[in-house]
Amino acid sequence: MVSQEPYHRLLEADRRKAHIKLLLEEITQGEVPAGGVTLELGCGHGHWLTAYAQENPERLCLGVDLITRRIERANRKKDKRDLPHLHFFKAEAMELLQAMNDSIQIDVTILLFPDPWPKKRHHKRRLINKRFLDLLAKRSRKGGQLFFRTDHEGYFTWAREALENNASWEWTPDQPWPLEHETIFQNLLPHHQSLAARIT
Ligand SMILES: C[S@@+](CC[C@H](N)C(=O)[O-])C[C@H]1O[C@@H](n2cnc3c(N)ncnc32)[C@H](O)[C@@H]1O
Repeated sequence: MVSQEPYHRLLEADRRKAHIKLLLEEITQGEVPAGGVTLELGCGHGHWLTAYAQENPERLCLGVDLITRRIERANRKKDKRDLPHLHFFKAEAMELLQAMNDSIQIDVTILLFPDPWPKKRHHKRRLINKRFLDLLAKRSRKGGQLFFRTDHEGYFTWAREALENNASWEWTPDQPWPLEHETIFQNLLPHHQSLAARIT
């Protein structure tokens, strides 16, 4: 299929992906810690992943967000602790997955309160969709897990249906949550629902 993206935007995206690739090579130096890989997409200020990395210091923990200021704050948190396998950097989630290669296989992916894009005409902007789930499945180890939490009823149903309709994933309602630790949005919102899934 011919891409509808203007040529200059494709070039910019390619440059960003090349940058992410270099960053990942720098981080791993060709070797991934034996504990496995955890990825947080839309990590905000890094509260959750920092607490998780403290509990799982043997894991490579990668947190990405689109907003520079949030990544700077996350990195300030990391810098106050001795967590050599924790890394925060600015990246768009799909571009990160596209830039990755087989040298990093993800065990756990976490999405906490991703933007719900409530208007129908914006649903196509939701991160969870078939393209995302297919690519994440490709970048994940067999048995790899996905954890998703939202306060938005419509996005919750959307995500559950997308998982149920995707042959690469199975919904695992009994899967324990990897770590309960409040994020900024969890703290602000009155309630939430969670979903867990595993690569089939
Ligand atoms: C509602 S906030 C939640 C932040 C944090 N997870 C929390 O619970 O406090 C959603 C975050 O996802 C980031 N984000 C949105 N779309 C993204 C994308 N495509 N790739 C990476 N980050 C994204 C936003 O910049 C924002 O920080």
